[in-house]
Amino acid sequence: MKALRLVRSVPEPLLVEEEMPRPQPQPGEVVVRVRAVAVTPTELLWYPTSHTRDGGPRNAAVLGHEFSGEIAECGEGVTDSAIGQEVYGMNDWFAEGALAEYCVTRPEWIANKPRGLSHEEAASVPMSALTAWQGLLERGRLQPAERVLIHGGAGAVGMFAVQLAHTHGAQVITTVSASDIVLAKSLGADDALDYRGTPFEDCVREIDLVFDTVGGDILRRSWQVLKPGGRSVTVAVDSESEPDERVRQAFFIVEPSRTQLVEVGKLIEAGKLQTVLDTVLPVSAATGAYAGTVARQGRGKLVISTSQLG
Ligand SMILES: NC(=O)c1ccc[n+]([C@@H]2O[C@H](COP(=O)([O-])OP(=O)(O)OC[C@H]3O[C@@H](n4cnc5c(N)ncnc54)[C@H](OP(=O)(O)O)[C@@H]3O)[C@@H](O)[C@H]2O)c1
Repeated sequence: MKALRLVRSVPEPLLVEEEMPRPQPQPGEVVVRVRAVAVTPTELLWYPTSHTRDGGPRNAAVLGHEFSGEIAECGEGVTDSAIGQEVYGMNDWFAEGALAEYCVTRPEWIANKPRGLSHEEAASVPMSALTAWQGLLERGRLQPAERVLIHGGAGAVGMFAVQLAHTHGAQVITTVSASDIVLAKSLGADDALDYRGTPFEDCVREIDLVFDTVGGDILRRSWQVLKPGGRSVTVAVDSESEPDERVRQAFFIVEPSRTQLVEVGKLIEAGKLQTVLDTVLPVSAATGAYAGTVARQGRGKLVISTSQLG
């Protein structure tokens, strides 16, 4: 099969199309014919991109761990997936990713592609929607009528967080660029603050939950707006290496979940959740997408169509 391999990483990443053996499913695994994969540029910095699970060096990784496609092969013992089933979901960070004709995953990490979404739209959902779901509802234990402050509410994760918190009955306040205030309110934010304007801590108080996608100084300034007993969750990439114990406690990494993908799919099909994707790109634009040199059209994820591979 054809795959795009990361032959050079930061600061000037280079992805090259190469021939690789088509993956074979182990017992309990499925192989997916990938149609579209979403780009997460920070993946270049993730530990599993440059290391194997046992800590050795990993070279020429295939990137892209959220995708949409069809099941092409089922391993021994797989009874709840069928060849040809259209699915969306994630695969293991340490496995070869979905910037390829085929990738391996597990049935419990994928779900039926939501009806009405193209493969490109569906590929933009799993990681951002599950990060928002797990951050708000599992780690953050958000309750209806609570006040949640979402930093970065016009980002790929933040847009799902705003919608999910609103659907859950919370009062949603979010920080965004001035040009995204209308968008954030249309997604369900009760209040949207320009993050370059008045500092949020001057106008926000008594927050039950901070959900942070920005990190650094924004997270440090957020502790003071919490109610006594209020909670903080951060997913920002730089939070993982923060020395502050509170930040390390607040940080988590999203996990794949079929159950949650099914719930997210139901909300999408009911029109209660929407995905916003920036641009669909051909595989020839993959290097630029990870390097940040591809012109962005709007908000949300860049998605690469892999249909031309093979
Ligand atoms: N831990 C996990 O499991 C996990 C999973 C997914 C993503 N992540 C991480 O989460 C972060 C966000 O990811 P994403 O995909 O949502 O990124 P994204 O689509 O690039 O969104 C980032 C958003 O943050 C906004 N922003 C920047 N500075 C801000 C500030 N000071 N205050 C408020 N908003 C600000 C940006 O607005 P402007 O563009 O208008 O400046 C943009 O809308 C990244 O660090 C990513 O690596 C972690």
